[in-house]
Order: sequence, then C-alpha cells, then structure tokens
Amino acid sequence: MPAPAPAPAGEGAAERAFPQGFVWGTATASYQIEGAAAEDGRTPSIWDTYSHTPGKVAGGDNGDVADDHYHRFREDIAIMKRLGLASYRFSVAWPRITPQVGPDALGPVNEAGLAFYSTLVDELIAAGIEPAVTLYHWDLPQALEDAGGWTARATAERFAEYAEVVAGALGDRVRTFITLNEPWCSAYLGYASGVHAPGRTEPAAALAAVHHLNLAHGLGAAAVRRAAPGARVALTLNLAWVRTEGSSDADHDAVRRVDGLQNRVFLDPVLRGSYPADVLADTAEVTDWSFVLDGDVELIHQPLDVLGVNYYSPTVVRAWDGSGPRAEADGHGASSHSPWVGSHHLIEFPELPGPKTDMGWSIDARGMTELLLRIHREHPGLEVMVTENGAAYPDVVVGGRVHDLERTRYLRDHLHAVLDAVDAGAPVTGYYLWSFLDNFEWGYGYSKRFGVVHVDYTTQERTLKDSALWYSAVVARNAVPVETAG
Ligand code: FCB
Repeated sequence: MPAPAPAPAGEGAAERAFPQGFVWGTATASYQIEGAAAEDGRTPSIWDTYSHTPGKVAGGDNGDVADDHYHRFREDIAIMKRLGLASYRFSVAWPRITPQVGPDALGPVNEAGLAFYSTLVDELIAAGIEPAVTLYHWDLPQALEDAGGWTARATAERFAEYAEVVAGALGDRVRTFITLNEPWCSAYLGYASGVHAPGRTEPAAALAAVHHLNLAHGLGAAAVRRAAPGARVALTLNLAWVRTEGSSDADHDAVRRVDGLQNRVFLDPVLRGSYPADVLADTAEVTDWSFVLDGDVELIHQPLDVLGVNYYSPTVVRAWDGSGPRAEADGHGASSHSPWVGSHHLIEFPELPGPKTDMGWSIDARGMTELLLRIHREHPGLEVMVTENGAAYPDVVVGGRVHDLERTRYLRDHLHAVLDAVDAGAPVTGYYLWSFLDNFEWGYGYSKRFGVVHVDYTTQERTLKDSALWYSAVVARNAVPVETAG
C-alpha cells in the first residue's frame, strides 16, 4: 500500500470538537466482506442463494470471495490501526456458528466458526480497537428460510439461542452486542419488494417478518444479558427522516404512514412496549396481526442500552391519488412490488433536485440532526450511536491515490450534523462510518463503492482513499474541520 499523503485537516484549521470519549469507528457486515463462503463448515445463507439466482444481483455478483477478509483480516486490522480507529463494528455470520440449524433445533456449535470471530476480537483488542458485534446483518441460514424464514416464530427463537452462543463465547471481551441490523430491510425488502434475500413478494409475510424480527431482538437481548451480563445491548435501525413538501391533509397522512411503517413499528414495541395502533389500522387489509401472541410485546420491550441509528438520505413523500404515474424515488431499488405494505396505493416518493450519491440517494445532512433530536425528544436519556453513515461514489485509483473529495464533503457535513444534535443535548456517543472497505453492496453487487479503503477485486489490493486520511485526522483530533481542502 502506498504511503499516505498528509491529511488535509490539521493544526490551526478551524474545527469543531466532539465530546471527550466520543467513539470513532467504521462498520462492515459479514456477507459483504468475508468471502470464504464454503470454508470451515459454513453453510449457505439466504444471500448465497439469492446472489446465485440469475438476475437478482447486478453483474451476477455474489459474496463467494468478496474482500477475502476471512483470510486477510490481519492486514485489514493493521489498516484500521494505522488510521487510529477506536472501534470496529462487524457482524457475525450465523451460518458459520451453527451451520446445521433448523426450525426445531440450533444444532451443534461449529468451533471453527466461533474461532474465527474470537481471533478477530483478540487481534482487534491487541491493536487497541474496541469490537462492536452485530449478531444479525441479514445472512440468515438458508435452512431457516426453507422453514419460513422471518415469517416463522421459530426463527426468532433459534436466533436467541444463537445469540446466547456468540455472547457466551465473546462476551468476556466484547462490550457491545447489536442484536439486529436494520430489520426494516430484512422484512420489507426481503419479503415485500423482493429486492433483498430471500426475494419474496408477499405483503402479509413482510409484516409477520417485522414482528418476528422485533421478537428476535427481544429474545436475543435477554439471551445476551444471560450469557454476558456485563455487555451492553443495542439495536440498529435505519430510521427515516420523513417529510413532505406538500401541504394537504393527505400529504401529512402520507408522512404519518411512512413514519409508522419505517420508524414506529420498530421503536414503539422496543421502547414503549406496544405496536402503534395507526399502523395496525393502515395494514388491516393485509393482515390481522394474529402472529402477535399474548405476552410478545413484553418480550420485545427489553431494556436497551444503546440505540444504533443508520442514516444516509432523507425520505420525502407525498399523497398519490392514482391519476398519474407513481413517483418511486424511495431509494430502495426497482421492483414492481412495493415495500410500503398497506400504503403504497396512497403514497409516492418524488425525485428530489440537488446532489445525489452514486446510489441515487439525495444528500441532506439535516436529516441526521433531525433524527437524533427526535429520539432525544421522544426517548430522553436513551444513548444513541450512529452505527452507519457514508456514501458511494465511483472511485478510481490514479497513481496509488483515490481523490474522493465528494465522500469527504459528505462525511464532513454529516459529522457537523451529528455535532449539531450533540450541541442541542442529544446523548450521541459514537459514529461508525460505512464502510471501512469497498464491498458487496447487496443487490448492487460490487458496482457501488462505499469504502474509505478502496479494494481492487482482482488483486484484493487495498488503497487508502483520501477520505480515509481525512477521517483519520478527524479521529486523531476528535474534531471535524469547518472547511474541506480541495
Ligand atoms: C445499509 C446496510 C449496509 C450497507 C449500507 C449502504 O442499509 O446496513 O449493509 O449496505 O446500507
């Protein structure tokens, strides 16, 4: 790897400081980086099946090799160390830990799978980097999907048993366990619009998945506490900053509907112990929610130590009366099936003017501040970490460098947005940049690059992008510069 150029932020530059002890990290997910799909006993996940199904993933890409992180994790940790990162959020691949899991039993623990993560944790700690472990970032064992996946209650029960195994093995060294990453995507993109694994397009199934994911969080949180009493339990949600530019009652109702489906159907059972009545009413034509059994919401309503928030882009919605073509710029991939279960016939998502990332996602850092302040208002005292934020751009390596100034600007603006919320009193204690490495971006395959470290997928060579050097300086100074060079 070429020597890094001097970082653009430095001594004397105007900057804003973060609170002392603020945690700086980067994030990844197992299927997106590990590769080694059939090694050391790992069995297929829904993403192996989905990506190997022709036509599902751009370019026919799959995670068989990905960033080969399974073999190169020491090199990757050395890069993190060089960047001065304090923490690393990664996920554990369930099919490595209990490869023979089925709906009725967890099956034997695969010691080779556990050993990989145990060594990863040891090496991180030796490098002075605190691990933060996500237990489920979308790679459900295929055998569980074959028995109904997240539409089946058994999946939530097996998840809790798996969570107990992982927390029991790593909890002596890992302080933070995140039960689920973005259950919104697992449920609605996996079971309603079908643009994520398992690719089902059944609206009622998506709502059953919502509930069983919430239940998995609750049962999993209790399991982590049993196995690792000293650990902190977190849940990561991709909350939407939803707004409308319209002024009619129907426009405001569109905001309420999207807020319900994306934010409150997860936040309310977890933090308040009830499902929002308006969401149950909005979806009554789709399901009677009879999969919610007596006592379930109490199981979901566990104490939460940290809420993880992933934020990339704003959500702008308006009422749709069916008279013209429906605007579908919701940023969640093209599908003739909508993820907006129960409401798609009433709402649309207009294309916004202004800058966008390579994902076509609009850039508006205000949404980060608004979201963090909303949580602070509605759940005062709840500790929050930004567990993902970042941007894709079509980066190229030129002479051993990647001049990704747009990413640096995106990061700078969103870090200022985090600080605006902190200055207004929101207890935000950390920030994990998505992503450490370029990686398998789900339905987009390798065509979208989110990393601050570039990966050449032919040679597996890693190259620090300029944004990595900029971020490294932010971390070192615990402060974000007001201006960005270039
Ligand atoms: C989030 C996912 C993460 C990555 C980013 C871009 O929804 O959690 O794995 O794909 O988006």
